[in-house]
Amino acid sequence: MTPLVREIFGVSFANPVLLAAGTCGFGRELSEVLDLDVLGGFVTKSVTLEPRWGNPAPRVSEFPGGMLNSIGLANPGVEVVRKEKLPWIRERVRRAKVFVSVAGHSPEEFEEIVLRLDGEAGFVGYELNLSCPNDARRSSLPFALDPEALVEVLGRVRERTDRPLVAKLAPNTPDFPRMAGLAHQSGADGITVVNTIPGYLSRPEGGASALGAGSGGVSGPLLRPVGVHAVRSVVASVPLPVVGVGGVSRPEHVLEYLAAGASLVQVGTATFADPRAALRVIRGLDRIGGLPERDVPTAVFPEVAMNQEKGVDG
Ligand code: FUM
Repeated sequence: MTPLVREIFGVSFANPVLLAAGTCGFGRELSEVLDLDVLGGFVTKSVTLEPRWGNPAPRVSEFPGGMLNSIGLANPGVEVVRKEKLPWIRERVRRAKVFVSVAGHSPEEFEEIVLRLDGEAGFVGYELNLSCPNDARRSSLPFALDPEALVEVLGRVRERTDRPLVAKLAPNTPDFPRMAGLAHQSGADGITVVNTIPGYLSRPEGGASALGAGSGGVSGPLLRPVGVHAVRSVVASVPLPVVGVGGVSRPEHVLEYLAAGASLVQVGTATFADPRAALRVIRGLDRIGGLPERDVPTAVFPEVAMNQEKGVDG
């Protein structure tokens, strides 16, 4: 067993559990109900160059396997983040490590956002959102599915910062080793897998889309096997830390991702149902008394198996 503390990207995380981008705003939004400093860290809402109002409502729809969303990267834009959101984080977040998620319509926009933020304190690195499926104004493929665009984004941003750069890839890439390899060669320090899977739900009465934007991205329980598979594939292809995300709501899910080779694990959609989901996960890991060494099957942790049988969460 190893303690919960993780040393990744030259940064010390109190535990391997982070909140995923788009699930906690810029921290403040959850701070009334969750002590952010219990977390290993969190990833902010994706920041774009200009403010974005997002897609038309409804923006989310549930189904038995999880949730479909098309928020459209709603956020206040980089200048508000620099002047208001980061100062709050600097003042209020002591222990949790913060990554700023960055999104853009072009490689130049990614570069410009990083240029404007990099002089600020309060965060340890960037997660580059190369894989949002809901950005209608970007008419071509998401960057994570377009090798040339991915290389250009990474190359430009790498020139602008010495902070850790983590590339968030898409679940529907036909070739994880290739895209992760290109990200590595272009200067990424880590890879996050996965973002949501493109999907479509009709309204119960049929016909029209359940979402104002039409299609969206699927997250929640059904994303877990996809995420674990992606982690295994990326870990086998590049010598970089991998951050696993998709369908995590219990401590044993974290163990599953870690056994697949992830260095850190993000809780995403579970936070919408229970803003303290990540806290329950961390408490569950605490009760186990630490983390397994790599590749140890979770079945060797009888408390986890027992809780699973009883339906007890962490
Ligand atoms: O619609 C959205 O804002 C989703 C973003 C994402 O999945 O990256």
